[in-house]
Amino acid sequence: MHAPWLPAAGLEAPYACLGGACGTCRAKVLLGSVTMEQNFALPPAVVEAGYVLTCQAHPITPSATVDYDT
Ligand code: FES
Repeated sequence: MHAPWLPAAGLEAPYACLGGACGTCRAKVLLGSVTMEQNFALPPAVVEAGYVLTCQAHPITPSATVDYDT
């Protein structure tokens, strides 16, 4: 398991479980792409709509932007 993406980058991000279960860290990907290590909180339709659990997400593009307020 890798360190959470945004906290590892020194950015403040909402989180609680850090295990992909609670959904507190949910954000929408606005630019770029990310992959999640595991997801127990978001149903497939939400993931297909572009949401990720940022505690489980790692960018797979040179940069990525997420929005916690969308
Ligand atoms: S902090 Fe709980 S799912 Fe990310």
